[in-house]
Amino acid sequence: MTANLNIVPFVSVDHMMKLVLAIGVDQFLVDLADYIEEDFRRWELFDKTPRIASHSMDGVIELMPTSDGQLYGFKYVNGHPKNTREGLQTVTAFGVLADVGSGYPMLLSEMTILTALRTAATSAVAAKYLAPKDARCMAIIGNGAQSEFQAIAFKALLGVDRLRLYDIDAEASHRCAKNLAGFGFDIKICASAQEAVEGAEIITTVTADKRSATILTDNMVGWGVHINAVGGDCPGKTELHRDILLRSSIFVEYPPQTRIEGESQQLDADHPIIELWQVMTGKTAGRTNTRQITLFDSVGFAIEDFSALRYVRDQLQRTGLYGELDLLADPDEPRDLFGMLLRAEKAAVA
Ligand SMILES: NC(=O)c1ccc[n+]([C@@H]2O[C@H](COP(=O)([O-])OP(=O)(O)OC[C@H]3O[C@@H](n4cnc5c(N)ncnc54)[C@H](O)[C@@H]3O)[C@@H](O)[C@H]2O)c1
Repeated sequence: MTANLNIVPFVSVDHMMKLVLAIGVDQFLVDLADYIEEDFRRWELFDKTPRIASHSMDGVIELMPTSDGQLYGFKYVNGHPKNTREGLQTVTAFGVLADVGSGYPMLLSEMTILTALRTAATSAVAAKYLAPKDARCMAIIGNGAQSEFQAIAFKALLGVDRLRLYDIDAEASHRCAKNLAGFGFDIKICASAQEAVEGAEIITTVTADKRSATILTDNMVGWGVHINAVGGDCPGKTELHRDILLRSSIFVEYPPQTRIEGESQQLDADHPIIELWQVMTGKTAGRTNTRQITLFDSVGFAIEDFSALRYVRDQLQRTGLYGELDLLADPDEPRDLFGMLLRAEKAAVA
């Protein structure tokens, strides 16, 4: 990689697509899941804060920072469910990784694609610990931008190969099924969420709506399933009926954020929730019996983005898939920033 600290590697959308395709999307998800697990296992040493959210009528813009003491990372991400009606993405993102020692940025990366990958990898990691053993069949309710990534991550990490798709927009389900052709799934497009969950051992909800929706009602959820609830990730934006939560063992990323943003916002502030990192490190049990309903109340936490940026950084040298950004001013004498400006003016005139 570049030796000049003032030049920052930049991974564009084009680079990211080339990187994912070069590694293979399923291998990328498996590798990324390893990085995420590695960071969850050292959870306690990270700086942690609920993300900083700026809400508006139509959506939210969020900043998600964290640090492990060596590296600092943050992601800028939005969530605007109405955007797709205007030909725009619901979620877009970019992120930065920086050196804590100097404070200098080390990487600037697109994170729209990377967010879909890291969200799916995190879901699959959680399911590895929580889903019924040997689960093969997953319902995916909400078949938009995140959905194929979820499907491929669950296949790559857990061996899920039967999908039951439902979306209020049937076109979205057909597009998802078409995109997944060739990935080895047996896919059924369903006419309702009720039909989609029939026979599914894992239920993924990944819809976008800026309100408290009820994608799943209590009677739709049988004993023993694992629910991967991805779409409810903002205050006032949930997907599950509260009664489901009352029957479930609830696993979360970072409680102070999830209690504000996740399905858990529907519960009393002291309702028991279990931190996923504690399950991964063996401090707490995950699934303990076959009748238990396990619920991953996913909202997306900064450490997952940090892991994703770390993973991307580690691929750069080998692949060369990055550009170079002239992002940081570099005067010959560090304190002579103004002099650098004057010299540039002289050079322009000459
Ligand atoms: N937990 C996380 O880490 C995380 C990360 C990324 C995105 N998200 C959230 O996931 C959700 C999906 O994101 P996306 O980028 O795929 O959005 P998207 O807009 O591309 O797709 C959402 C899909 O949900 C469908 N839908 C809406 N209401 C529905 C309903 N009642 N029943 C069935 N389908 C319904 C829409 O028709 C659309 O196809 C968003 O709410 C987003 O904020 C969460």
